[in-house]
Formats: sequence, structure tokens, C-alpha cells
Amino acid sequence: MDDIKYSNTHHQHEHSRTNYDDQLDYGTPASNSDVQVTLMIDDREITVPEGTSIMRASIMAGVNVPKLCATDSLEPFGSCRLCVVEIEGRRGYPASCTTPVAEGLKVHTQTPKLADIRRGTMELYISDHPLDCLTCATNGDCELQDMAGAVGLREVRYGYEGENHLKAEKDESNPYFTFDPSKCIVCSRCVRACEETQGTFALTISGRGFESKVAAGVTDFMNSECVSCGACVQACPTATLIEKTVIDHGVPEHSVTTTCAYCGVGCSFDAEMKGEEVIRMVPNKNGGANHGHSCVKGRFAWGYATHKDRITTPMIRKSIHDEWQQVSWDEAFSYAASEITRIQAKYGKASVGGITSSRCTNEEVYVVQKLVRAVFGVNNVDTCARVCHSPTGYGLKQTIGESAGTQTFDSVMQSDVIFVIGANPTDGHPVFASQMKRRLREGAKLIIADPRAIDLVNSPHVKADYHLKLQPGTNVALISAIAHVIVTEGLVNEEFVKERCEWDSFVEWRDFVALPQNSPEVLGLAMGVPAEELRAAARLYATGGNAAIYYGLGVTEHSQGSTMVMGIANLAMATANIGREGVGVNPLRGQNNVQGSCDMGSMPHEYPGYRHVSDVATQALFESAWGRPLSNDPGLRIPNMLDNAIEGSFKAIYCVGEDIVQSDPNTQHVTHALENMECVIVQDLFLNETAMFAHVFFPGASFLEKSGTFTNAERRISPVRRVMTPKNGMEDWEVTAKFSNALGYPMEYKHASEIMDEVASLTPTFKGVSFQKLDELGSIQWPCNDEMPTGTPTMHIDEFVRGKGKFFVTQYVATTEKVTPKFPLILTTGRILSQYNVGAQTRRTKNVAWHSEDIVEIHPHDAAERGVNEGDWVGIASRAGETVLRVKITERVQPGVIYTTFHHPESGANVITTENSDWATNCPEFKVTAVQVTRVNQLSDWQQHYKTFSEAQLAFADRDLEAAKIEL
Ligand code: SF4
Ligand code: SF4
Ligand code: SF4
Ligand code: FES
Repeated sequence: MDDIKYSNTHHQHEHSRTNYDDQLDYGTPASNSDVQVTLMIDDREITVPEGTSIMRASIMAGVNVPKLCATDSLEPFGSCRLCVVEIEGRRGYPASCTTPVAEGLKVHTQTPKLADIRRGTMELYISDHPLDCLTCATNGDCELQDMAGAVGLREVRYGYEGENHLKAEKDESNPYFTFDPSKCIVCSRCVRACEETQGTFALTISGRGFESKVAAGVTDFMNSECVSCGACVQACPTATLIEKTVIDHGVPEHSVTTTCAYCGVGCSFDAEMKGEEVIRMVPNKNGGANHGHSCVKGRFAWGYATHKDRITTPMIRKSIHDEWQQVSWDEAFSYAASEITRIQAKYGKASVGGITSSRCTNEEVYVVQKLVRAVFGVNNVDTCARVCHSPTGYGLKQTIGESAGTQTFDSVMQSDVIFVIGANPTDGHPVFASQMKRRLREGAKLIIADPRAIDLVNSPHVKADYHLKLQPGTNVALISAIAHVIVTEGLVNEEFVKERCEWDSFVEWRDFVALPQNSPEVLGLAMGVPAEELRAAARLYATGGNAAIYYGLGVTEHSQGSTMVMGIANLAMATANIGREGVGVNPLRGQNNVQGSCDMGSMPHEYPGYRHVSDVATQALFESAWGRPLSNDPGLRIPNMLDNAIEGSFKAIYCVGEDIVQSDPNTQHVTHALENMECVIVQDLFLNETAMFAHVFFPGASFLEKSGTFTNAERRISPVRRVMTPKNGMEDWEVTAKFSNALGYPMEYKHASEIMDEVASLTPTFKGVSFQKLDELGSIQWPCNDEMPTGTPTMHIDEFVRGKGKFFVTQYVATTEKVTPKFPLILTTGRILSQYNVGAQTRRTKNVAWHSEDIVEIHPHDAAERGVNEGDWVGIASRAGETVLRVKITERVQPGVIYTTFHHPESGANVITTENSDWATNCPEFKVTAVQVTRVNQLSDWQQHYKTFSEAQLAFADRDLEAAKIEL
């Protein structure tokens, strides 16, 4: 549809290639000093913070000093000598990038002598550089070319003698960028970007003098430590490191600022375009979460949006055994609406429901839950957060009063102790991990609690002070043992607790954790962690200065997930590590909009803003706004919907952006439930695994094709801007709105911004949020209201959202999922950098170059016991089912524990996970499954069944697409 209300939104955030001021490069990083210094630069007076470089001050004063090795995302290096200046009263020609300002300086940037020096320097560079500007891929977007012009270079007196870079071979090994050493000027920006920005240290400068060159590993980029974040490509001032898309399609001509659709970091990007075609995604340096950095997914893995598997025409079929029929949108809406009406008439209101996804925008989630509550007339709406962070919502709400993380990502730069529990930031939240690593390199201490040796345990220049290798399923033992040390060794901050928390709840908790049964000596046995390590880690957390906890699904996806979240909050409150910068409780949300989808009321018991459906005033508010009677009974959660489908009372589901067959535990149970339904409506980009059981398929739009907002793990609401026309003809919120219209309830929004306006009018924490304000501020961290009109970076500063913080007793109860002689190993799961969630997007990009199949990691001891060798196929059997994966033998996992990822449907990782779940929220216990591993030489029965079924399904889709001559 046309952008009516916000017709100018894109233009405000759209830039020509050569003129976007907010992306001006100031040459060196900003100084944080409060002391101001005034100086003269070329007769212009300027006042800047102490510590600012002369180069930065010059550019701020509007004086452009030539530069090559300097860029404001990196510390100054001072190697190219192009930025030399003269300073009155000082001898020589200092480099302006490495010389700080001083009070009263008189600086000259343009003198005949400086011009001579710069021309001479440029001449040397150009003498060792191919003169193929006209046919170079970055012609017009090359700093070397710009500088040659800026210094007025007219001739090159030196020839190409001796060693030079001109004959060096290109490295094309990376799927997304090339390295052409013949164009390298050895400015070292790439090496520094890899070290300072990314923290991977994959690049070095080898050789000396004229023979020095950039090297990635021993052979090439793909065989080095490189994680393909692209920071070096972005930093390179020449065409040496360059995106292959730019080589293929040329330099982009305009850009639109939007937000990454992958993980919960929520990086801001400029989608650099040629017409409707994305040429490259460049991280936006004003992005509040990423400050110009990105990972391989956000920067490079967007090709899925135009993948040939995209379904762009609505389809229906009476039975899941029929072939799909392509129909018009109107036919699809009318068929789906008539089915919902028929089913509710026959089986009752509660026989239908909806599921949203954390990949949806806030606006999409809001309209889906509104449809279910106001039109279906029930609260049977749930979201995929059910299977990841629902315990976070519950645990934090109970203890501190708000179901969200307490800090900004930047807060980590004030932390002295970083405690990572059940999270793998370098793979799951890579851009935040880079920031965390920067702080660790500055000297912050690191405690990691994880059954597996994640990269942070030991990576270049970062080493964990303590790695607590606890057995999967023993988190609550860990938190209780640490609390025991803090309480019994007098490390509680009683002053804080007295002032800020419910004292009685504290006393109850204190007396409980002080019991001998909670000592590290006792609980350490259950965890398999030495008591002394636990004691030392507890002391460090309590006494090491600002201590921040970061946690992930390794905390939540357990039968005691909610207990553990409350235990984490207890610890932060007891030690006063909450309510200021550098501390806090920080859930690392897996997907881009986990926080937002929960905020928007996608859980069956809560309206937007976490207000319970039984709250009379809230019910009245929404009834009046939506003009329909609403139920005050909490609806069905996903597992209840599935159970009821099997039992026969739940018959239809509207599933938006979520692939429950692949993401939910016990796949056989899920597929059986779907087979029992009479109408499964799937709205997605691809014919996903759930669509195999669907009767209606509404094609979805990618994030590049729609407007809306995502809310990241720091509560940061960021704009998603449409950069190309939806391939399916409409944005996803429009599909839901039109489906609602077909059901007789008009939703007449003209733009996603109007949905956000409605959210703001009904949700106190979003009161001040609007698309217009997002355009002005870039992003907003909720709560945003009259008191905090520009948002709230740190929460709970003076008091907790619930008033007084409340402690909860955290009794460790071992999971019922225990090892037995039949299932003697524990399987735990995780994710990998290059793939995302169930892989629907990343598997359709060149990211498969890094991870084309899920593999299972096993300790050498367990492998030897079973006669298993590296690369063998093994059967992994649990009491729920069996699957077959290839083996990697590694000491990253402990004896008795095996580990796999879940990015490929054919792996069937969830075929073997059980129905165990968190006591409070039903979040599945994905992280603990008792299994046996044996050598095999064929796929499991389930995998063979899946292969046949999915091949047949995809063949239908292919035929339909071909028949419709859909071109993507
Ligand atoms: S590859 Fe680029 S950034 Fe790296 S040293 Fe060469 S020119 Fe500089
Ligand atoms: S892509 Fe990233 S990790 Fe790889 S060399 Fe460049 S900066 Fe380093
Ligand atoms: S996947 Fe996450 S870390 Fe990577 S670019 Fe996207 S938001 Fe940033
Ligand atoms: S830009 Fe200052 S020495 Fe290179």
C-alpha cells in the first residue's frame, strides 16, 4: 500500500550516497572529557572536550584534513602521514589524528609546505597502486581516489620497481567479500577494525616496510579465525576489501535506515540500494545498540528476501493431502474466515487461536493479538517467547516488577565483573559480545557458568576468570550456592536491601540460602563444580565492583527456568548490583523482537503492557477501544492448544511467522496436533515445516518490505523501514487487518504508524512512542511517557517498578530428566553464529558455507567408549524419539554431556527433546534431555518420513511457482 501518513518518513531517513551528514567520518573517536578546550584551526575558533584530536576538532570546525589511516570508529594509528598540520610555536609537522588539542593552540592545516608533504605521500601510495579507477568496483566511493584529488596529485614520479603489491593474488574465499591485495595501501584499518571493533584478531600485517602486507590466517579468510563480521570491509578506504555485491552491481545510489531482523541486539543498518535492489547493508554508526558494527547475519545474510523459495501468492487446500491451489488474496481471506466461523460454530469459541512470532514487528503482533481477542473472542494467543524467554517475563515481573532487562548494552562498559550464565554471546549476540570483549580487554573480570566451553572462555586477549562447568539442569543449585556464600560471608549490602526491598522476603530468602544444604560443598556435588570455585566466583561477583549478569536460554529453557531468573534477581538485589550503569540483570533475547512481541500482549494472560486479562479496568479500557466484549479468562498457551488439538477440542490456528513444527519440543506431538486440526493458517515467507500441515497459506513480507518497529533486548524500540515493495503485495499487518475485515471486524489502519499510535494510547509504558519520535530520536527505550519523554536507558534507579524488590526462595529441585543406563548422556542445545533460529532465513543464504548441517559434539572419552570417530553418523535416542547427526569430537563438552544446534529441520533436534517444561510458564526444557548415542549408517525413521514428506510438499510449491511464472 502507499505510505500515506508517513509519506516523508523514508525521505527523512533516506540519503544520497555522497551526502549524509550523520555518517560524517570525524577521523578519530570522540572524547568523553568534561573539560573543554578552545583553540584556533585555520582562523576558526572551536571549543571541544579535552582529549579530542586536532583532526576531529578540525572536521568539527568544518575544516577537512586529508586522511587515510584514520577513521572515527578506530583509535588513531598515525601511519599514513597525510593528515600532517603545522602548529604555531611547535617544530615539525605532527599528524593531526594522533595529536590532541590544547588550550590556545593555533593550528594550520593548509600551507604550501603541508601540500608538498601530502602530495609526496600520495605519490608513494599511488606508485604502488593499480591505476584502474575507471573500471574499479568502488570508483566514486574510494578514499584513496578522494585523497588523490584532495591533495591535488597530478603526476607520479616513481615507477613500479622491486617488490610491490600489484601482482598479489585475490582472495575470493569468503562468500560475501573479496580481498584484492594489489589495491592495499597497508593502512592497517582492517587489522585494527578486527581487533578493536570486532575483537577477533584474525588479521595481521606480515613483512616489513614496502613488503608489508595484510594476512588473514595462514592461507585465506575462510580458513582463518575470521567470523565474517565485515568490520574490515567497512573500514577499508580502498577497493581491497569489498563486498561482492558491489563488484557485481556497482556502487549504491541511496540508502534507507532500518533495523536488522535477526537477533535481539537490534543493530541499525543503512540499506544501501540501487532502485529496489539492496546492494549492501552498512551498519549505522548512530545505531544505539551497535554503534556502526554488525555480524555476518545482519550485514550479509539478507539474500533470503529474494530467494526463489519465497511464496508470493496465497494458497488454499481442503486437506493437507491435496495439492495447494493458488488463489487471489480475497479468496484466501474469505476461505480462511469462513473456516474460522464454521469451526467456532461447531466446536465453540475456544476451539481456535493464534500464534505470533518474535520475528514479527510490534505492529504485526499487536494486530494478531487484537484479532484473536476481539474477533475470535478468546485469549488463545501465544508467541514463540513461550519456548524461549517466558521465564524471564515471569521471574523479573515477580521480583523487580518489570518483565524486561534493566540496562542498555553500553552499560557493560561500566562493569567491573561480568557474569555470563547460560548464554553464548559471541554466537548468539555477536555485536554485543564485541562490546563486552572490549570491556574485558580493558580489565573487567569474567565469570562464565556453562556446561560447555563457549568461545568467551578462552579467546584472543579474553580469558574467563572462572568457568563453572555445571551439569545441565543444575542452574538453581548454582544460584543458591552463590547466594549461600554471599549471605554467610557477610557480603550482602544490607543498607540497599533495607531501603529498596521487602525486608521480610529478604529474611526468608537469607535464612533459606544460609542452610548447610545450600552450601557450595553440598550443591557443588550436584553441579559437578568444585566448591572453592563457586566460593571464589561468588566473592568476585559480590565484591568486585560493578557486577552485571547476562543470561540466555541456558537459564530459561529448564524445568526451573523461572526459579533461576528469580534467583538471578535475588543476587543482584542482595549485592546492590541493580539500578545504575554497569550492573543489572540482562536477559539476552534470542530473536529480534522477543521483547516486543511480549510487550505487545501476545501471551494468553496479558494485554499489551503486561496487564492481566482479569484486571477489570484494563478489560474495560480495551473493550471500549476495540468495541467488542473481551474475555477475562486467560487463554490457552501453545502447549495447551496442542494438547487440546490432540484431545479434539482445538481445531484451528492462525500461525504468523512461527514454525512450531521445528521450534517446539517433541515434534511428533506437534505434528500429531496439527494433523488433528481442521484449519491451519500459516503466514510466512516460505512454505515452512508447519505449512506442511496447513490449509491456508498467506504469503508474508520480509523486513525489507515493511514498516514497523522491533524492540531489542535493551527495550530499545527501533524503526523498521520499507526499502522495497512487498513481493506478495502487502505488509504482514495488512494481511491480518484484511483477514479481520473478512471476519466482519474492520481494521482500517492506513500505515503501521497508526497501529503504534493505538498501542501508545492504550499502554502506559509506550505512551510517548510514535513513528515521528522514532524518526527524530533514532530509537527509544521504553518506558517512554510524560516523566521519561525520550525513554529510559536504565530502570529501577530509585525504586523498583513494583515498589520494593521482592526476594523469592529458590529451592533446587533436580529435573525429572535423569540419566539412566538406557539414556546415559545429557543432550544440551545451543546456536551458532552463522545460522539463526530454525534457519529458515539463513539456510537460504551463503551462510551455509559455515554451517550446512547440525552436528553433535561429544567428549573424546564418550566417543571412544562407543567406538565413534570424528565425522561418523550417530543415532541420538531419547525417550521421546530418535534422530541421526554427524559427530564432532571435542573437549568443549564435558564427559557425559553432548551438544547440538537446531538450525536445520532435517536434524530433528526437537524430535528428541521431551515435553518437560518450566513449572511457571511451560517453557520447554530444551537444555536437558537424557539420551544414548550409537553409531549408525542410516537416517532415523522420522528423518526418512520427513524427507519424503517435505520433498513432496516443496515439489508442489515449485510447480505452482513455475506455473504462475513468479519471478524473484
Ligand atoms: S586491506 Fe584496506 S584497510 Fe586493510 S590495510 Fe589494505 S587498504 Fe588498509
Ligand atoms: S570480517 Fe570481521 S572477523 Fe573477519 S577479518 Fe574482517 S574484521 Fe576480522
Ligand atoms: S544478527 Fe544481531 S548482532 Fe548480527 S547484525 Fe543482526 S542484530 Fe546485529
Ligand atoms: S590519517 Fe593521520 S596519519 Fe594517517
